[in-house]
Amino acid sequence: MAIHFETEPDLQGRFGEFGGKFVPETLMQALTELEQAYQNIKQDPHFFEEYRALLKSYSGRPTSLYKAPHLSERWGGKAKIYLKREDLNHTGAHKINNAIGQALLAKRMGKKNIIAETGAGQHGVAAATVAAKFGLNCKVFMGEEDIARQSLNVFRMKLLGAEVIPAKSGSRTLKDATNEAIRYWVTHVNDCYYLIGSVVGPHPYPRMVRDFQRIIGDETKEQMMALEGKLPDKIIACVGGGSNAIGMFYPFLNDEEVQLFGVEAAGKGTETDQHAATITKGKPGVMHGAMTYVLQDDEGQIQEAHSISAGLDYPGVGPEHAHLAYTGRVKYQCATDAASLDALQDLCLTEGILPAIESAHALAEAKNQAQQADEGDVIVVNLSGRGDKDVHTLQTYLDEEGTA
Ligand SMILES: Cc1ncc(COP(=O)(O)O)c(C=O)c1O
Repeated sequence: MAIHFETEPDLQGRFGEFGGKFVPETLMQALTELEQAYQNIKQDPHFFEEYRALLKSYSGRPTSLYKAPHLSERWGGKAKIYLKREDLNHTGAHKINNAIGQALLAKRMGKKNIIAETGAGQHGVAAATVAAKFGLNCKVFMGEEDIARQSLNVFRMKLLGAEVIPAKSGSRTLKDATNEAIRYWVTHVNDCYYLIGSVVGPHPYPRMVRDFQRIIGDETKEQMMALEGKLPDKIIACVGGGSNAIGMFYPFLNDEEVQLFGVEAAGKGTETDQHAATITKGKPGVMHGAMTYVLQDDEGQIQEAHSISAGLDYPGVGPEHAHLAYTGRVKYQCATDAASLDALQDLCLTEGILPAIESAHALAEAKNQAQQADEGDVIVVNLSGRGDKDVHTLQTYLDEEGTA
């Protein structure tokens, strides 16, 4: 029996109780303009033709859906594990899908200057890349802590002509970079397009970014039917803000037989205060322009998040995920730093693929699921990005563990 899952936000941009537009008055006009521009391109087949043509010729889509036989064997041999290879995209992660879409939109809106925020740097690199390609000026806000742990991506952004602006407040990570970007946007709203990197922020961003990322799930569905003649039993993706996960899940929301799992960063453990398990441990609240689950203390102040992966180190989550968690359609699990790095090493050693530490969180849950699987279960893991950016972090961690 097919289920019907409500997948569009209402007129206020809410998914159930979550989402909306909680922004200063100065930004309301910019959001209305963006909403209108997005409505226009949604009805314009030429826009999506251009978008899809660029995904193909510039980014290298479709990305492969790779069957990982040795990894499947290592994790019990019962489940067939497939990897959706978003790491093979130009610039090394799924972030480019959205950056291409929004840069095309910015161009249509006549904006010459784009700003972006970044955590792991993959969105910053994607934004700097499309800015170079489309001849736009680009400023990227990035927390000082992330600048230190993702120095390779900082260098790449600068090579691509972007200005990287350090965010020095709070935990000096993605949340603080986003605060700085919003602050800048408020004062430069007329000539500046804010290219948000995940399904977060005020309406219409969560829906728009999802629409640009759904290519992941659409392709997976088609490829899986060709390879196995059926839909997968389980799909697993990591959740920072939630863009790779919602891009993968969205086309499957009404396929009742497919179980969907989002994986948050448990950092040093959800029993400690050093994690980024927003849905698991957070409460409803407003952050970065939307009502969603937020890590917060008893007084409602935002708590710092922690994860070894810069891209998951965020105390909020996209409002559509909050809704999917509330309704139970998607199950949200957690993976610790340690479990994720174990899973990452398993993939390196068995298949010769070095994933991003973010993606390794999805792998850690895949290992759990594979070990409990029935014979022949098909599990798809969204491999959101490649791990080149993380080699310094990995080296430090493994040196400290004495296992390098
Ligand atoms: C490779 C990779 N995967 C996942 C994420 C998390 O973002 P999201 O949850 O929006 O997919 C990031 C963020 O920077 C990333 O670089």
